[in-house]
Amino acid sequence: VRNLLSISDISTEEIAHLIERAQYLQTTHLYPNYSQHSLTTLFYENSTRTRVSFEWAAKKMHMSVIHINPASSSESKGESIEDTLLNLEAMGLNLFVMRHQQNGLMQHLVSVLNDSYIINAGDGTHQHPSQALLDIMTIKNQYPSDNKLKVAIVGNLKHSRVANSFQQVFSKLNLGELRLIAPKIWWPEQVYFGDLTDDMKQGLQDVDIVMALRIQKERLDDNDTISWDEYKSLYMLNENTMKWAKPEVKIMHPGPVNHDVELASSYVHHPQSLILSQVNNGVFMRMAILEWCLGYH
Ligand code: CP
Repeated sequence: VRNLLSISDISTEEIAHLIERAQYLQTTHLYPNYSQHSLTTLFYENSTRTRVSFEWAAKKMHMSVIHINPASSSESKGESIEDTLLNLEAMGLNLFVMRHQQNGLMQHLVSVLNDSYIINAGDGTHQHPSQALLDIMTIKNQYPSDNKLKVAIVGNLKHSRVANSFQQVFSKLNLGELRLIAPKIWWPEQVYFGDLTDDMKQGLQDVDIVMALRIQKERLDDNDTISWDEYKSLYMLNENTMKWAKPEVKIMHPGPVNHDVELASSYVHHPQSLILSQVNNGVFMRMAILEWCLGYH
């Protein structure tokens, strides 16, 4: 049985296996039965896609699913997160999907637990491994054997756990060239893989795929703010900026989308948009992740 806390924890072979297994589940609909296992979800930050797709993935494999809402749990009476998990573990629950605003917290929590495992569903600005795996599955579904892709990510790279995990998977699978586009104020402290630029035209030149990131207003402090009008005029994916990419460029976004901030509304459900494919792929990737964490496949 395994944790999934960071893309750093998994090998290239394991990533390739997870993608193949998720594609198999997606195309065959032959699902295993893990009715002896449970999944518990704890989300200290809001979520639609990640929480629901993990829960749906578990239900497709006949697992029991329990959702804990931290706001209505005994943490509201002062119980610590460590005690919360130890009490759930004492009930026999031993696989947790957790999202939390604190970077690296889950690394600490796994050391407190006795015989339980955690899947990181997003920790602060650090990692969102299942999102990166479904994003790369989406790319591999489109371009099964192309490892000379040109891909760009645009947005607030400084605060993006999605971008961090994506860079690591992209690099481990050696998929091609990655451009990281952001205004300098949102450049990350650490680049795992890719070339940073604040020049949208240069960054989008000839790209096959462009992924816009959500502008996370909840993570911005006074030092991080830029004029929304300036951001939108320089970095929004719209008819003006998209002309620098290939005409057939595919559009991705991890969601939720701020329409007409990072992505023009006309592109969200555009024929070249893969955004809802990402969401669909996420269910099957999360089935593969659950199996892998349970020690099957
Ligand atoms: N992409 C993503 O993490 O979406 P949710 O916040 O809705 O889970």
